[in-house]
Order: sequence, then structure tokens, then C-alpha cells
Amino acid sequence: MKKYSFGFLFTLIFLSNLFSCIYAQESYPYQDKNLSIDKRVENLLQLLTIEEKISMLGGTGFATVPIERLNIPPLNMTDGPLGVRWDESTAFPSCISMASTWEPGLIYKIGKAIGQEVKAKERHVILGPCVNIARIPQGGRNFESYGEDPWLTSRMGVEYIKGVQSENVVATVKHFACNNQEHQRDFVNTLVDKRALYEIYLPAFKAAVKEADVYSVMSAYNKINDYYASENSVLLIDILKNEWGFKGFVMSDWGAVHSSLPTFNNGLDLEMPTGKYMNSNSLLSKIEDGELQLSKLNDKVARILTVMFKIGLFDNYQYDKTKLNNDEHKKLAYESAVKGIVLLKNKSGILPIITDKVRSIAVIGPNADCSRIGGGGSSQLTPFYSVSPLKALQEKIGKDVEISYAPGVIMDGDAPTIDEKYFFTDENGENNGIKVSYFDNVSLSGEPKVVLTEKSINHVWNGNKPNENIPQDIFSARWEGYLKAPKTGKYILNVASDDGVRFYVNDKLLIDDWKDHGEMTNFVDFEMEQNKLYKITLEYYENVGDAIVKLGWQLPGNDLLSQALDVAKSSDLVVLFVGTSKHFESEGKDRESLALPNNQDELIEAVQKVNKNLVVVVTSGSPVLMDKWIDKSTAVLQTWFAGQEIGNAIADVLIGNFNPSGKLPITYPNKWEDCSAFSSYLKEDGITSYTDGIYVGYRYFEKNNIKPLFPFGFGLSYTTFQYSDLNVIQTGKDVKITYKIKNIGEVKGAEVSQLYVQAVDSKIDRANKELKGFNKVYLNPKEEAVIELTLNADALKYFDVEANDWKFEKCKYNLLIGSSSVNIKLNKEIEFK
Ligand code: BGC
Repeated sequence: MKKYSFGFLFTLIFLSNLFSCIYAQESYPYQDKNLSIDKRVENLLQLLTIEEKISMLGGTGFATVPIERLNIPPLNMTDGPLGVRWDESTAFPSCISMASTWEPGLIYKIGKAIGQEVKAKERHVILGPCVNIARIPQGGRNFESYGEDPWLTSRMGVEYIKGVQSENVVATVKHFACNNQEHQRDFVNTLVDKRALYEIYLPAFKAAVKEADVYSVMSAYNKINDYYASENSVLLIDILKNEWGFKGFVMSDWGAVHSSLPTFNNGLDLEMPTGKYMNSNSLLSKIEDGELQLSKLNDKVARILTVMFKIGLFDNYQYDKTKLNNDEHKKLAYESAVKGIVLLKNKSGILPIITDKVRSIAVIGPNADCSRIGGGGSSQLTPFYSVSPLKALQEKIGKDVEISYAPGVIMDGDAPTIDEKYFFTDENGENNGIKVSYFDNVSLSGEPKVVLTEKSINHVWNGNKPNENIPQDIFSARWEGYLKAPKTGKYILNVASDDGVRFYVNDKLLIDDWKDHGEMTNFVDFEMEQNKLYKITLEYYENVGDAIVKLGWQLPGNDLLSQALDVAKSSDLVVLFVGTSKHFESEGKDRESLALPNNQDELIEAVQKVNKNLVVVVTSGSPVLMDKWIDKSTAVLQTWFAGQEIGNAIADVLIGNFNPSGKLPITYPNKWEDCSAFSSYLKEDGITSYTDGIYVGYRYFEKNNIKPLFPFGFGLSYTTFQYSDLNVIQTGKDVKITYKIKNIGEVKGAEVSQLYVQAVDSKIDRANKELKGFNKVYLNPKEEAVIELTLNADALKYFDVEANDWKFEKCKYNLLIGSSSVNIKLNKEIEFK
């Protein structure tokens, strides 16, 4: 290894400083737009000191470190990927919903709109798209990516990136790689074989680099085959930078770096959110001593600078503040939400609802009177407005049809808080409020730093300090006071918190949950007497991340189920809005069960008994179990978390203003035991072995002859499509495939047809079929279209682990055209010469 003498380095630093002083007042060559980006970067590398370069390897919150001496601005970032998480912005649907549209062109437009909103916030980088494969249906972040198939995910990711970058905004494809579960995501060791890695988990990243020229890649939290993603040289150097020729920079996920040297040497360029390891003095001294290569440091800085030049950050970068939630973006949010809705069942054509016939509708369920725009965690957005399904239905048909509403159940995370008027600081109930003591540690130790009287316990601080003398993280608080019960009977008391809580009534400990976790709600039953005062103490601590604490209750005699059954009985039709919420599907945790939470199955079953005209609307970010009620439900819609326009989109599908055309980007299993990861997930602490190899999603169901509840690619319409006339023309390695689709129903609609390829008599262990193309066509009644798809023989290659390369197998290939992965309409065998 080359050693630099101290004298040499000193001269270098001196000269570069001198150089910069000389130029400080003048213009630098790098400021000359006419020079190539390489030359401009080269100039900056000469001007920057080693210390400055090292300082650029660590971020500062959501930005890179600026170097004012040389007028190097910060590169400002924001989450992603459902929209811009920087104050208020347009809330687009979740990415699983985007994937359900099967419309890459629409995803390009969304990417572009997001790019515009990033700039409207004076930011330059969006931390998205997320192209991790949905390996497990309970994955906490499945809603943030595009489902289980590498081909579909690639098509969506590429268009998102192209859209974002067309606005001179940096897209960040994440999380590289195999971040397919949230359980133990910070350290879990993902053991994955090379074939599965190349064929299932990497294609969307490769497409992002090779087809969309993505400017930034975010490494994952987890380990892949024993090495943290942020210091994994196989992934970051061998594959990403060498094999795929990635020219942008690799940033770490937030707090995902664990070392200085291995991280520096193994391919990471930028540590986020701060340079805890990469800004270290040890790196500096090792570079000065020549132990670490200066060229590596230069390469990292050059990558960051190159991207800054590419988006024009040094050349009078323009921030257009007008393009924020404008009409065009609102329309896009609606269009993608409505096109992402999947009609799963429609017995006897109960949908669309004919308002001339249906005179009364019972709107029931915990997802009716709220807008489930997205899941939880870093992708959460604050829209300027959002529309709930209940509100949309009332507005669209409320004049003609009687709509009655009952929530039926309350989901964790939605529990109502206690009104200010019931809190008292004294046992006589004379003074409203509650005393709170805040501590600047997590254990309520020592003297409180602040003592106040607050009106109630209802705090969502997320990123803000509770008080100017208390930090935003690492603090604790104790509320002490009295609650006056308005009624006699059994109350359901609930405490929602992120992180730990202890709750006492009359000095008795009722809730003991003193540990770190994301937002969750603890419930406890408690008998209370009208007008009596109850002493309460609530202790809480916040470690790091989001900070939430809320005390709520459900009053006695508030029998939600009976109320729901009453409205169900007295209506012509019931629309039951069930599902999950950001509370259940969130970063940092996987769902504990695929079943609907909080007794929603029981709610559906009870409603089925009193009204047979039942439409179940499932809003979630991933599949839920339906075994208990699917057979007895007349119609089922899957809406996904669908952004700010969720209500309008659902209502329009229900009443037939829009004919549903979404198709599932993920297999809907009958039960968890049927899924590929069942036998390996959670089996070993700190390890997740991908024993399913390439057999993920539909590939696994087909190999094992397991019938899913709804297959990958499935979705119904209010019309019917006829497929015919498959024609295949081979020219060398290219295959041109044409076929006809005709709308033979009564209403306009869109059909997503899918091309699967099946290797016939293959000598290799291969999936029964693999998606290699698709098309979506909009057709009026009786209209017919000729669909054209092209397939290149390269798409049929498999990864040969021994040869460490992609190989083409000379065998027959069956080309299957289907309306889903199971419903194959046309097929033809071909052979490559
Ligand atoms: C998430 C990333 C996100 C980052 C910044 C991390 O916890 O995994 O996806 O971009 O936070 O908010």
C-alpha cells in the first residue's frame, strides 16, 4: 500500500489551501459551465482539503455537508417514496397500489410530480423508490414497494426514477439489498444464495442503474451473507459499481453504519444522517499516513460532486414553489388511486351499486371514516387534504341514497383520546388540567427539568421537543392528576405510545409496557362510577425516533357491534370498510398476524348474518386473511393505502364512475403456512435464511401446487375481455408477440394482459413461469385492440452460480398470455435457433 510522507501531505494541504485562497474571491474553474463534469469535479478535488473531503462523507440530518469556503452547497434530501415528506405535500398512493395499476407511464408522471414537489421544498434528493421484493405478506414495508415480482418491480422502479430525475432531482433506489422484512432489520443476517440474489432480489436495482441511470443508492440496514449492507463489498463494489457500472453515490440507511474502516473500504460513499464513523479522525490519520488510499476518498467525494453537477446544483438551480399539490398533482393522486383498486370478487354483479335500486347503504367499519393514505414510518406524508370513503360517498350519492354509518370496531392506533374536560389537577375536581414533570433522561431520574400543567394527554411530538428545555429524544415524563367519569360502567382505557409507558389508576399499575417500540396501543378494562374522581399516573419515556403518548377511553354502553348491526339490518346494502392502518403496517415491525386486527373478522361475520348484500372493502398495504368470510361476502375490493384521494377513488369504483382495472402485484394466500417464507421466517434469532431460493411469491405457489386465494396478476372488471389471435415472429434474439383483446361487455374498461415464459423440458431447476412483459389497454364496449409485446432472449436467461454468469438455456419456451398468472388465455411454444 502506498505511503504518503507527512511532509508530502503537508505540502499538499498547504498548496490546496493556498490555491483556494487565491481563487476565493474569483471564480473557480469548476464554476465554468462549459467545462465537462469530470473536469469540474477534478478541479474541486484539487481545491478541497483532506479534512473537507472527509467531512463530506457524513451527512448532517437530511443533507450533505456544505463547504462554504468553496461555495459547495448542501445536497438537501427528503423521504419518499409515496410523496415528499417535508411539511405538506401531495399524498400519492402507496407503491403497492402504484404497482397494481400496471401502468409504468403513470408511475413516470408520479415520479415527475414528486420531483417537482421536492424542488418546491428547496430539496434535491428524494429517498425513493423502494424496490425491495415482498417476500413475506406480513412485511411491515410491503406497501412502500411494488410487490413480489422482479420484472414488475423493475418496470415501476425505472419509471419512477426517470420521472424524478427528469426534474433534475436525485432519485435514491433503496434498500440495497434484501431488506425484505422489518423484524430485526437493524442487524438480521440474510442468508441468500447467489441465484436468488441475482434473479429475484437484485434485478430491480440493476434496472435502476442500467436503464434509469439512478443517481443514488441507499444501502439497507440488514446483513447479507454475513456482512452489513453498508460494508458489503460484494454488493457495493463487485456488483453495483464494477459489474453494473454505477456512477452515482451510495448512501447508508439512517444509522446503518457500524464501522469506519470496513465501511470506507467496502464501497459506501456517504454515511447518513451523520458521519459518526465516516467523519472519524482515525480515517483522517490513516489517509494521512497512507494506510488508506487517497484515491478511494477522492472517488467517494467525486461521486457526490458528480451527482450535484448532473442535477445542475452549481449552475443556478431553480426552485419552483408553485408546483406543489397543484391540480395536475391532485388529479394524478386520484388517477393512480382509482387505477390501483383491485376488484377481487363480484358475485351476481352486486357492484357497481345502482343507486336507482339501492335506497339505503350502511357504511360500517374502522376504515370508513378516515383516510388511510399510507403506512407508518419514514414514508408518512402530511397531505393538504384527504378524503375519507364515508365523506366521498356522502358527497357523491348522499342526496339520493340514505347513508348510515357505524365504525363497528376501533382499531389500535385510532383509539379516541380523553377530552380535556375530564382531567383535573385536584381531587375535588375544581381545576381542569393535569400536572406533568419532564426529565431529560429516559428513567424519570433526578429532579424534573420542567413542571407544567397540561390540558390532556394527547401528544405526537415526532421530531419536535416537548419543551424548549427538553430534548426531542431521550426524555421521560410523569403525568399526575385525576379523571372524572361521566358515566357508571365498564370503560376501556387505552394508552398509545412510542416508546414505553406505565399507567396507574388509584396507584394500581394497570399497564406496564416499559420498553422501546413504535406506536402501539395498550388497552385495559376498568369499572368507574359516574362523577367519581380517579387518581391517575402515567409514566412515559422516549428513546429515539418518533415520540407519541395519548391517553384515551371508550365509554361504557357504547356497544359498537350492536350499533353496526342495527344500521346493517335497516339498510339495503352494506359496505364494510376493513383492513389495517399505518399502526399495523409500518417501518420497524412486521405484522404479527395476517388476520384482520381488532375483531374485524367477527364484525364481518356478524354483519353477514343480518344482511347478505355485503361489499367488503379492504384497505391495507399487503394481503390479509379472508378465510372466515370470503365465501359469504358478495363482493370484495382491495384498495391498498391509496393516498389523499382514497375516498373519491373507492367511491367512484363502488358506484361505477370508474371501472376497476387494477391487478394484484402480490399473491393473496389462503394462509401464512402456504407462503414460501413460512418455514424460515422467525426460525432463528438474528438470522433469516432464504431457503425458498428463487421460489418466491407465485413461483413458490406454482412449484408446490398450492392454490392461492387470489393469484398474482388477478383482478376483475365490470366488463369482460376476449383474447385471440396470438402471433409470434422471431427475428434472431427478438420475439415479436401480437394478440387481440376485445371488450365484449357493456362498459368501457381496461385490461392488463401478462406475458409469462415457461421453459419446456428444461434441464435446470426453473420456476414454472416467470413474468416477462405486460400491457394495459383501455377499450370501449365492442372495441378491439392488437397488443404488441417484444421479448428478448436475454430475458430468458437464468443465473448460473458455478459460472457466476447469466446463461441462456437452449430449450423450448412456452409463451403464455394471461389475464392473471393462473388464467392463461393464449399460448405458443417457440425455440431459439
Ligand atoms: C428508512 C429509510 C429512510 C430513512 C430516512 C430509515 O429509517 O429505512 O427508508 O429513507 O429512515 O428517514
